[in-house]
Amino acid sequence: MDSFSTLIRTASHEQHVEAETSTFMSDLLGGRLGVDAYARYTEQLWFVYEALEASAGRLASDPVAGPFIRPQLMRLASLERDLAHLRGPGWRTGLTALPATGEYAARVRECAEEWPAGYVAHHYTRYLGDLSGGQIIRDKAERTWGFARKGDGVRFYVFEEIGNPAAFKREYRELLDGIRADDLEKQRVVAECKRAFALNTGVFRALGEEFPLSA
Ligand code: HEM
Repeated sequence: MDSFSTLIRTASHEQHVEAETSTFMSDLLGGRLGVDAYARYTEQLWFVYEALEASAGRLASDPVAGPFIRPQLMRLASLERDLAHLRGPGWRTGLTALPATGEYAARVRECAEEWPAGYVAHHYTRYLGDLSGGQIIRDKAERTWGFARKGDGVRFYVFEEIGNPAAFKREYRELLDGIRADDLEKQRVVAECKRAFALNTGVFRALGEEFPLSA
């Protein structure tokens, strides 16, 4: 039987392709969007990570979610530095969540409060993605909008305290394989991961509508 880390990756593969090839992501990676669209996207991430990380302290002692909570992963402070760079010191004033983002953050919060294993699905979907494809987005953002390499504007994608991302991901997959959940609960976590991907795609769809290409 496949390991749980393989199962969750395989099960979300199709939706990963969908997210990767969404209009908004394609336009972003294709260098066809202005920095305003990137800033708006970064703002949406703020709401998601606020939901993920506000509960991290409490979940650290949870038997299921606890092992996944690592201070090296925390992104909120980096996101705030990026937003200060992108929007200026008053970045909080104009910060608004798109309805799709509100829905995503609410679901993360709900899992954090009521279902730690479901929270793991969201944790996996974001952080393992950021450690992987996030690096492609960073590289593109640096080139497209002229941010300093690994500097302000793209700090969200830079995990300063993770020296070896490949090793970190390997360890993370081992944690997934050892998750304290029976088979039925694992199935539920996989389903929640798919939901997490769908919530991300929803945010991309909304961003795509807000930033249609004029061409
Ligand atoms: C254009 C956007 C994206 C690109 C180019 C991209 C690219 C990649 C690549 C190359 C990997 C493989 C890394 C490896 O095998 O170690 C990966 C893994 C992953 N990505 Fe993405 N990705 C993108 C968007 C997303 C999004 C939007 C999500 C979800 C929010 C996501 C979640 C994940 C996850 C969870 C993994 C880890 C899979 C695993 O090994 O279990 N990615 N991504």
